[in-house]
Parts: sequence; structure tokens; C-alpha cells
Amino acid sequence: MTFETILLDKQDGVGLITLNRPEALNALNSTLLDEVADALIALDEDSDIGAIVITGSEKAFAAGADIKEMAELSFADVLKTDKFALINRVFEQVRTPVIAAVAGYALGGGCELAMACDFIIAADNAKFGQPEIKLGVIPGIGGTQRLTRIVGKSKAMDMILTGRMMDAEEGERSGLVSRIVAVDDLLETVLGIARDIAALSHPAVAMAKETTDRALETTLHEGILYERRVFHSLFATEDRREGMLAFIEKRQPKFKHQ
Ligand code: CAA
Repeated sequence: MTFETILLDKQDGVGLITLNRPEALNALNSTLLDEVADALIALDEDSDIGAIVITGSEKAFAAGADIKEMAELSFADVLKTDKFALINRVFEQVRTPVIAAVAGYALGGGCELAMACDFIIAADNAKFGQPEIKLGVIPGIGGTQRLTRIVGKSKAMDMILTGRMMDAEEGERSGLVSRIVAVDDLLETVLGIARDIAALSHPAVAMAKETTDRALETTLHEGILYERRVFHSLFATEDRREGMLAFIEKRQPKFKHQ
């Protein structure tokens, strides 16, 4: 696959998508969003890949949707193409864990892209924000919904209504960020975490992701029942037997992903 606006690399069971429009601080134009969607689908279909990392540059994960591309669009234009529908659909469909490695600005659509990932590891220079209100619009790739679920209504309203930025520490404190890493160590650290996940049983990892996502979609009672049934179903895998035997025999498990 050849791309204009992203770089795609595969190593040790990990797919790495690097947003690559440095001249525009990785602003998400249509080409970039289509290419991220294509890369995610291809990596998700690749049975050698057990985890995906999305990253940007040291200065910007992504400074939002491309304002220059959007400036002249009409209501009819964005409605007709259902702008930003595709990338949301793709994130809903991908079953491989996706980690956002965020350094620098993650603003607007950039913050939303990071939140669409399964978790966010931030460099100490990361800055998150939903500044769309300053442009006369609102977030359009899930920001009002995901940010509110992640950080709660009060902080989400503060961010969305003022457009202010949040640094990595505030992000970690409020649950947006799972860990903070020194900017120079960000990519190696996140790739290491992704490699560790990729080495686990792929069926168990896919089920863990799906079941955890359920927590935001269903009642506690239904979610706990769903979890228990998935737990039961994993007793059908060879990997479950291998994982438990390896523990008892005090050795590393050799998962076959089946
Ligand atoms: N779209 C298009 N181009 C952008 C961009 C964006 N979102 N963000 C930055 N750029 C471009 C700039 O226009 C500039 O290009 P030129 O050199 O050709 O002028 C280049 O990237 C570098 O940017 P700056 O000179 O502005 O860099 P800075 O370090 O002074 O400021 C910044 C950095 C604070 C991130 C600033 O660029 C900024 O505020 N960007 C816009 C942030 C924003 O409003 N994002 C929300 C977009 S709307 C959205 O995302 C909708 C949605 O929910 C999907």
C-alpha cells in the first residue's frame, strides 16, 4: 500500500501508523483520514498484527481537522459526504487494540482521533483541546461524546465551551491519558507496550477490548453478564489452556492465537 499523508510500518506483531503532514501540524484532511481508515482496516485484517500504534510528530499528534480544506464547504457538501462518518465507523469495527502515542498538539479532530483509540499514552509536552468553538463549530469526530464519557461532564463542558488546552498532567489526572512518558522516550515506550500486547493471546485480547468497550454502551447488569459469558467462552481456546499450564509450569506461554 502506498500513502501520501501517513507512514505505515509493521514490526514484531505491531502496526505503526505515523501521521505525516508536518507542514500542517498533521491536520486531518480527507486524504489523511481515508488513509488512516485504510491502514487500520489492513492492519486489523493482518493475522500477524496484534496491536496498532498511531502517532504523529514531536510537535503535533494532529492539530485538528484541516481548516483550510473545510473553510469553503457548505452544509450540503458536508451532509452529502457525511463528513467524518467513515473514520468513526472504522474505529468501531477494528478489533485489534489501537494505542495513541501523543506528543505535542492533539487538538480538535486530533484529540478526537486519540480518544477513538483504546488508550492514550502522552509525552510530557502533549496538549489536548477541543477548540472548535473558536471556529464557530463544535467537535465532529466524537469529541462531545467521548470526552464527556472519559473526563466527566464538568471538565468536558469546560474544554468544549472555552476551547482551552489541557496539558499531559491534567490529562492523566482526569483519565484522558493512561501514562505520561518523556517526549524522547515516547515512541519506544509505546511500541514496547504494543509488542507486549501483541505477544498475548489474540482472541483473549480482542475479547478483552470488546468487553471493556461494552462498559460504555450497556447497563452494569448486562455488562457483567456479557463479561462472564465471554470469560466462559475463552475456556474453548487452546491459548487459555496454554496460559494456565505455563503459569503452573513456571515458564513463558507460547500462544498460537487460537
Ligand atoms: N488545519 C489546517 N492547517 C493547520 C491546522 C489545521 N487544523 N493547524 C495548523 N495548521 C497549519 C497552519 O495554518 C500553518 O500553516 P502555514 O505555515 O501554511 O501558515 C502550519 O500548520 C503551522 O501552524 P502555526 O503556524 O499556526 O503553528 P503555531 O505553533 O504557531 O500554532 C497551533 C500551533 C496552536 C496548534 C495552531 O496551529 C492552531 O491553533 N491550529 C488550529 C487548531 C484548531 O483549531 N483545531 C481544530 C480544527 S476543527 C476540527 O478539528 C473539527 C473536528 O472536530 C473534526
